[in-house]
Amino acid sequence: MKDRTRIRSLSEHIGEDILLCGWVRRRRSSGSKLHFLHVDDGSGAVQVVVKKGGVAEDQLDEARHLPLESTVVIRGTVKEAPRQAGGIEVAATELNILAAATGEFPIGKKEHGVGFLMDNRHLWLRSRRPQAALRIRAEVIRACRSYLDGRGFTNVDAPIFNSAAAEGTATLFPVDYFGETIYLSQTGQLHMEAAAQALGDVYCFGPTFRAEKSKTRRHLTEFWMLEPEMAFADLDESMDLMEGMIGHVIESVTEHCVPDLEALERDIDALRAFAPPFPRISYTDALKTLEGTDAAIEWGEDFGAPQEDAVSAAYAKPVLVHRFPSAIKAFYMKADPEDPRVALGCDMIAPEGYGEIIGGGERSSDLAFLEQKIEEHGLPKEAYEWYLDLRRYGANPTAGFGMGLERVVAWMGDLGHVREAAPFARTMARTFP
Ligand code: 4AD
Ligand code: MG
Repeated sequence: MKDRTRIRSLSEHIGEDILLCGWVRRRRSSGSKLHFLHVDDGSGAVQVVVKKGGVAEDQLDEARHLPLESTVVIRGTVKEAPRQAGGIEVAATELNILAAATGEFPIGKKEHGVGFLMDNRHLWLRSRRPQAALRIRAEVIRACRSYLDGRGFTNVDAPIFNSAAAEGTATLFPVDYFGETIYLSQTGQLHMEAAAQALGDVYCFGPTFRAEKSKTRRHLTEFWMLEPEMAFADLDESMDLMEGMIGHVIESVTEHCVPDLEALERDIDALRAFAPPFPRISYTDALKTLEGTDAAIEWGEDFGAPQEDAVSAAYAKPVLVHRFPSAIKAFYMKADPEDPRVALGCDMIAPEGYGEIIGGGERSSDLAFLEQKIEEHGLPKEAYEWYLDLRRYGANPTAGFGMGLERVVAWMGDLGHVREAAPFARTMARTFP
């Protein structure tokens, strides 16, 4: 099929005879002599007209009985058709069935519950909504990588099998590793700190795992995280980078994914309006804005969804909340020299109820402080000796962050739930298909 034309580029071939391959997603007949096949090849969809005289008799008959989702190879002529989406259609001269579908496709026109659709995710992917979401996901990845690559960052990836926790022991997935218990990576950060000491500005991008017993629309057990880390950088530089990168993601998605955003009924103007600058507010000040509301919490308590939603609702933008209490943050965070009760960390909270999409900040470069934190957090010191070496041999301030890909994609597409932002979501209740 080397000489096949992608449906996406059919409009460049008006009047020409082409070969196209695809799946018949819908079919309509007008009597026995005229059939309209809606053929999709992943790059786009087009109406193919199969009529008596255009194709051989046996093929005409096949078109009439063709089950949906059958795979077809079609030769035909590209014609202008102002009433069709894309303004073209294909008049078939030859219809070959590569694989006829057996039985009725489980996903039909009627409304299906999301549980059913997720059970059939392998087939649901063929529908317009998942197609759109996955193309947006690809665009977000492209945008992030090009933003960082364009700024001289080196992509250095992190291992998945690890001997210790970085983000708290409560969410570790243990793995039996030749009789020894190790864990799936919660973050690539610690390894990126090592890479930053070698290469300056680096990032990793890969799957991360959290055994979080959270059944919310923001939690997956397996998700992709993009983690830049910069040597000689502080909290402010890490906030600048988060802001710049998310600004670039918004620009790229609203420029390159308009048909997909439309298919998802995403308000594109609202998305464009979230361009930087983003407000920056300390945890302590954020708490003041929550006073007297249902989301009010005591100083020292962590944010949950109600706090994130209330803070983001107060600004019509993504919000950077910095300087959370050290006690509720990871061991590696640098304490604020002006107020050691708080850490030089920052979360970015997305608007429209999508919650925390980024967490990061400045890392402590103080060996004694880190040793003390490792002890306070009850972590096995031996497993962190390599990390402590980074402070023994040429410590410098490093800063960076981790962006949860699926949360950003869910927000970009206004998907409502992170499970639709992953090709095959893994949650507490799902490891299938
Ligand atoms: O805030 P987190 O836990 O930060 C870290 O792991 C840092 N070590 C990152 C760094 O500084 N390099 O996670 C970062 C982001 C969150 O803001 C969120 O977007 C996403 O990862 N995330 C999840 N996404 C989906 N499901 C989950 N269970 C997630 N947990 C975190
Ligand atoms: Mg976080």
